[in-house]
Amino acid sequence: MSQPAPQPSPDFSLGVALAAIPDTGVLAGHVGDASVLLAKVSGEIHAVSGSCTHYGGPLGEGLRVGDEIRCPWHHACFNLRTGAAEKAPAFAPLSCWKVEIEGERVFVRSEQPADNKATPAPAQAPKRVVIVGGGAAAFACAQRLRERGYAGSLTLLSHDDSAPVDRPNLSKDYLAGSAPEEWMPLQPPEFYAEKHIDLQINTEVGALHLQDNYVTTKAGKRFDYDALVLATGAEPVHLKLPGFDLPNVYTLRSLSDTRRLIAGVKDAKSVAVVGAGFIGMEAASALRARGLDVHVIAPETLPLARIIGTQLADHLVQLHRSNGVHFHLECQTQAFDGRTLTLSNGTTLNVDAVLVGVGVRPRTTLAEQANLACDNGILVNAQLRTALPNVYACGDVARYPHGDGLARVEHWVHAERQGQAVAGNLLGDQHTFDDPPFFWTHHYGIDLRYLGHGRGWTRVEVEGRPADNDCLAKFYHDDALVAAAAIGRDRDLLALQPQLR
Ligand SMILES: Cc1cc2nc3c(=O)[nH]c(=O)nc-3n(C[C@H](O)[C@H](O)[C@H](O)COP(=O)(O)OP(=O)(O)OC[C@H]3O[C@@H](n4cnc5c(N)ncnc54)[C@H](O)[C@@H]3O)c2cc1C
Ligand code: FES
Repeated sequence: MSQPAPQPSPDFSLGVALAAIPDTGVLAGHVGDASVLLAKVSGEIHAVSGSCTHYGGPLGEGLRVGDEIRCPWHHACFNLRTGAAEKAPAFAPLSCWKVEIEGERVFVRSEQPADNKATPAPAQAPKRVVIVGGGAAAFACAQRLRERGYAGSLTLLSHDDSAPVDRPNLSKDYLAGSAPEEWMPLQPPEFYAEKHIDLQINTEVGALHLQDNYVTTKAGKRFDYDALVLATGAEPVHLKLPGFDLPNVYTLRSLSDTRRLIAGVKDAKSVAVVGAGFIGMEAASALRARGLDVHVIAPETLPLARIIGTQLADHLVQLHRSNGVHFHLECQTQAFDGRTLTLSNGTTLNVDAVLVGVGVRPRTTLAEQANLACDNGILVNAQLRTALPNVYACGDVARYPHGDGLARVEHWVHAERQGQAVAGNLLGDQHTFDDPPFFWTHHYGIDLRYLGHGRGWTRVEVEGRPADNDCLAKFYHDDALVAAAAIGRDRDLLALQPQLR
């Protein structure tokens, strides 16, 4: 998580010249301790909070597009007239401020009371929606349904043992010990009660009865639906190697996985991280923050290079090295006896715990058993609907049309936005989902953000210097820009969004 930005000037309570408010951008300032944005929208002046409701990103450094302001940190989109959080990862609206125009000056002195007008119930909606899952996509779908005024029955069945949590934080500040557990839930328990969302945790759905419109849980409970949303996500790949079923071998997906790892390394001195993908590398950074000796084992010559290119990858690996991580590259793990980890190059490492982070696979078993079409994910159309008109899939588990082929993306914001898109489509939107994928990753206080479908890029151009944490990498497939990654150049990255669909 990044640090809150300092207050931008000017002080709007003292007034600013009308002419200082740009026609297409925003003017960032403050009122007392609150950061506020002024914007001209369709000839009217509006004032909204300048602090993103996700992690507090400085919206004044974001990008204005039409009526919207997009957050520089994780790309949440807010409406500048109403403050509405239109696109994840933020869900709460921005507060709106009262604008007073006196002659040629604009004053902002007080917050407007929240608009609590009930949203009218949508005309077209299924009576009962059941969502299988309790992660990013499931939560965002349920939240958006209620936000849009859906008043029917809404059930969330989650195998997790906690209400939906901020999963990306599990390998970042929470694992490092700098984010307390109370930061982890996406919403407190009262939210589900207030919104009449029947959230059932510790509930594993065992079968989908698609012809008769109901699902059953492993414990034998039945839930009837008119529309079904499958948001079962992905599960970590386990290594079938000698000793990798020992209790001090861990994976990271759920809050309870991370709690177990934290408890397991409480008195540890050293840990091995198997796999040098983003989650493994983030975990290495977080475990260093706990003072552990960290070994990373991976088959690549340069971890992450296939995704972010050699310059950025080299920078991140050097960052880890300079923070004391030991890399064992171009080699694999062979066996673990609870204390000694044997590598394929003959090295043996004495470690107290092993964290396996070698990727995930989509949780498609339920869908496959119910004869829904699956191929590395549940196959859906551009509206995220399966071949059955009342069954949708979204998030890590969904494979949807993109360009000339199909895409399945494993990113937090993408999963949430797919959940939001499904909610809209359940209410009759017929929305074609084509948001570019976006993810961020956090290592020793440095954030790298990535936008686009970069798989199979053939050429990369880097502007700026990764070593200065100030660079923008553009990834091309032949001559077409397919993705971009930035450290410290958030607005440049946001500006590339229209080209990266
Ligand atoms: C440690 C970690 C760090 C990450 N960091 C980032 C990051 O920095 N940036 C980023 O973009 N992405 C990150 N990701 C990826 C991101 O979290 C996922 O892309 C996102 O959570 C996918 O959302 P989802 O809803 O599809 O699946 P999930 O969030 O995995 O949710 C799936 C849900 O389905 C439930 N479920 C599965 N099967 C059943 C069943 N049979 N019955 C009932 N419930 C079931 C599960 O219990 C779970 O609640 C990270 C992931 C992890 C694990
Ligand atoms: S802080 Fe704004 S989207 Fe995360």
